[in-house]
Amino acid sequence: MDTTALARTYPTPFYAYDAAVLRARIGDLTEAFKAQNVSLHYAVKANDNPAIIAMAAKAGIGACLVSAGEMKRAMAGGMPPALMLMNGVGKSDADIRFALANGIGQLNVESIPELTVIADIAREMGVVAPIGLRINPEVAANTHSNIATGRRTDKFGLLAEDLPEAKRIIAARPELKWIALSCHIGSQVHDVNDLRRGYAVMADIFRAQEGLDRLDLGGGFGVSYRGDAYSRPADFAPVVAELTKDLQARGVRIQLEPGRYIAAEAGTLVTSVIHVKDSGGMRFIVVDAAMNDLIRPALYEAYHPIRLGRSSKAATMPCTIVGPVCESSDCFARDRGLPADIVRGDVLEIGFAGAYGFTMSGQYNARPRLAEVLIDGNEAKLIRRAFTAEDFDAATLAA
Ligand code: LLP
Repeated sequence: MDTTALARTYPTPFYAYDAAVLRARIGDLTEAFKAQNVSLHYAVKANDNPAIIAMAAKAGIGACLVSAGEMKRAMAGGMPPALMLMNGVGKSDADIRFALANGIGQLNVESIPELTVIADIAREMGVVAPIGLRINPEVAANTHSNIATGRRTDKFGLLAEDLPEAKRIIAARPELKWIALSCHIGSQVHDVNDLRRGYAVMADIFRAQEGLDRLDLGGGFGVSYRGDAYSRPADFAPVVAELTKDLQARGVRIQLEPGRYIAAEAGTLVTSVIHVKDSGGMRFIVVDAAMNDLIRPALYEAYHPIRLGRSSKAATMPCTIVGPVCESSDCFARDRGLPADIVRGDVLEIGFAGAYGFTMSGQYNARPRLAEVLIDGNEAKLIRRAFTAEDFDAATLAA
């Protein structure tokens, strides 16, 4: 991807996605699990641009959702509602209504009170809600604490000890059709053994139930932000096969919810250097992207690879790459080795930004949200225009 050339067409900062990489990662997943009774549900929270959702849909992948808004985007990307499932510890009544009205395949319930709410809404609508019970398997994944979700004290899912009560409620409510158990122990899990522990707990709980035909093992496949070794779908697939062989043999479908794995690597945040500022013994490279555009470094101290968009023979020196936002957490990387000849106007590429990049972006400092461009071979296509100051004003000035 020649981002310096692209930046002549699209004003920086913007997100660029490489279609070939998206197809390759989608292909890794479909290939790794093709011999098993596994359905894939792309967690669109990672990147909800319908053009990207459409690429997953084309490969037969469904959606893992958390809101009606995401469901609308997944439908716009061409995914059939029957292949969609919705998680969420606090789905609103409107989310539940929208999902049921549009024929969602599965609503994963995360608490006892939610069971009653869904049953009441389904009765009022005159429909039967297909539900999964999300279980917190009490397995601590080795990942950043903010994105671990399977510890006993995390807010997600029901504890196994809540199952008897959940089953009593389900038995009393004909508006609920219980079809699945689900879980998700965390995100950016790079050790296949963490997932193995979670999957094993879930498979055991599943075996103790009757009448269910789906076991949803969640998402969480990690990606290599630093270019080091990590477990890939081809490593996870045999573990899924081994732990659920008996279930698959009796027709149980295993569901997976990968998000980051599909979208992260394909995305680059393309940004321009505003200033090179030498101060206090530091070299600051001030760029036009900021924490509101990509919050992962500020929020999780996440590492993203950063490179200069042109070739340079200059020696590298430690640089701290910062955005224009008015707080010190607006920093993409500290003491990163970059060529010493970087100047104002150069383009920098912040890599592996395709997942949880745009979708987590905001408008802090009245900075409009960015454009997204899909690169397919020699073609570049604008798949979301940048927001404008007028977009803000249209929403606020009327008040
Ligand atoms: N399923 C459920 C129930 C989830 O909560 C998530 C992610 C996924 C699937 C997809 O997980 P993935 O395959 O992408 O790891 N903003 C954070 C990640 C938060 C993940 C939230 N849940 C980050 O930027 O690292």
